[in-house]
Amino acid sequence: MTFYRPFTCFDLLKLNRVNLDPLTETYNLNFYLQYLSKWPEFFTVAETPTGEMMAYIMGKVEGRQPENWHGHVTAVTVAPEYRRLGLAAQLMKKLEDESEQKRGYFVDLFVRKSNDIAVGMYKQLGYSIYRTVLGYYSSPNGDRDEDAYDMRKALSRDIYRTSIIPLKDPVKTEDLE
Ligand SMILES: CC(C)(COP(=O)(O)OP(=O)(O)OC[C@H]1O[C@@H](n2cnc3c(N)ncnc32)[C@H](O)[C@@H]1OP(=O)(O)O)[C@@H](O)C(=O)NCCC(=O)NCCS
Repeated sequence: MTFYRPFTCFDLLKLNRVNLDPLTETYNLNFYLQYLSKWPEFFTVAETPTGEMMAYIMGKVEGRQPENWHGHVTAVTVAPEYRRLGLAAQLMKKLEDESEQKRGYFVDLFVRKSNDIAVGMYKQLGYSIYRTVLGYYSSPNGDRDEDAYDMRKALSRDIYRTSIIPLKDPVKTEDLE
């Protein structure tokens, strides 16, 4: 059985095991607290009946109104023993519903080009590659940068789905808004 509930600051003491994964970004404490205070409704945890953290998602709403106003997935991660149970799909759905409520045009996220499992999952959930961002991620040992895909899914407000028309050319990290 899985319980979904809002993430609280006390969950920051429990996420180590979920984050022990090279494909999961770990941020500094200020970053998490800023998200929690500004966009608590975009932060959900999945846990077992005994209170063990299984997965979480964090995100925000951002951009310029009207057509660039959108939900953003900052991180979604599932502890290895709870993968392939549909947890990430559920958490993504919650963030998309929240983005719909905030009248967003689309939801977007960045993912390492090499993260085939996550890229495949996002495609399965209806996301498509909007553009490539050159050198967006640094490698764990800092010797080589890795490109990201910026993936998007149009929400119901974007009736003509213009927000997901892919860009032909890659962009540099410094050119991101
Ligand atoms: C990517 C990740 C979040 C997926 O979480 P999950 O809870 O296992 O995913 P779900 O069970 O919701 O899977 C949804 C769909 O994604 C695809 N998928 C997920 N994991 C997959 C895998 N290992 N192999 C192939 N397809 C996979 C499937 O299409 C799946 O649907 P299905 O099970 O009905 O076939 C998880 O593997 C993870 O935490 N990875 C490390 C962190 C990470 O990469 N986060 C994303 C960074 S942008």
